[in-house]
Amino acid sequence: MTSRNHTVVTYFQFLPFSGIPEIQGSLFCLVLLVYVSTLVGNILIIMITTVDVALHSPMYFFLKNLSFLEIGYTTSTIPKMLVNLLTKRKGISFLGCATQMYAFALLGITECCLLAAMAYDRYLAICHPLHYTTMMSWNTCFLLSAVSWFVGVLVALGQTTLIFTLPYCGPNRINHFFCDLLPLLKLACGATYKNEITTYIIAVIFIMVPFLFIVVSYVQILYTIFKMPTAKSKRKTFSTCFSHLIVVTLFYGSGIVTYLRPKAFYSSSSNKLLSLSYTLMSPMMNPLIYSLRNKEVKQALKRLIAKKINM
Ligand SMILES: *[C@@H]1O[C@H](CO)[C@@H](O)[C@H](O)[C@H]1NC(C)=O
Repeated sequence: MTSRNHTVVTYFQFLPFSGIPEIQGSLFCLVLLVYVSTLVGNILIIMITTVDVALHSPMYFFLKNLSFLEIGYTTSTIPKMLVNLLTKRKGISFLGCATQMYAFALLGITECCLLAAMAYDRYLAICHPLHYTTMMSWNTCFLLSAVSWFVGVLVALGQTTLIFTLPYCGPNRINHFFCDLLPLLKLACGATYKNEITTYIIAVIFIMVPFLFIVVSYVQILYTIFKMPTAKSKRKTFSTCFSHLIVVTLFYGSGIVTYLRPKAFYSSSSNKLLSLSYTLMSPMMNPLIYSLRNKEVKQALKRLIAKKINM
């Protein structure tokens, strides 16, 4: 319904760092650097987990899938942000905005589920080592990751539809660097209350359920490790899940503070900084965390480099 004198919004304008135009150049270089290292790191993880036979296990299957996802996840927001830092118009079309939100939400929700699947994998490996190979078969692996993607596709579709069926009748300035859920909800006119609540509830469910699942898995993992007889076995076992634990903390930490914070604490500027953490930092850190902390990955990298030199 676009009655009266309502102008209908056909494009949105980003105003992320408009207060400080001097830093746009340095910000561009910094973000570009982070983006390129994210791509290189994650492509490398996909390469070694594909090529190296020693890494053909469920844990690395999930890691490979996570890297694949991170590439799409950063690509859904960063290139557009880079273009905006260089150009004057800094806009995105209505459809472009919806597409960006859909891609970002899909990959974000899938990541939540995939991280939970990885925690389950570590739980089985550490708490039920004798049954690990039967319980975490290749079929189970594929199923768990397929379910993660499926949930992402459906839930993101619901969220995006909820937000883009709201009327946008005037304000079109997004105080953010991409079309995220909350900044867009703020622009909608009329009674957005019901949609806000629904969006919030969906976010709570699909962030908190995987998160609680991860917490429960890790409590059991830590309990099992704690009961181990020698310090050496404790350390060795802990090292296999330590990388995952850091990745989970980084991603969920910033995600929970952003989406699940009571509205009274919402501020656009802190929101922007926080989302830099899960859109930029966490995808860049994953490959680093996994390759620096992990002996198997380091050895596989050495083998890969040796092979390339000997060719
Ligand atoms: C990730 O998992 C999905 C679902 O099982 C699969 O279709 C996709 O090919 C996987 N991607 C990679 C790079 O392993």
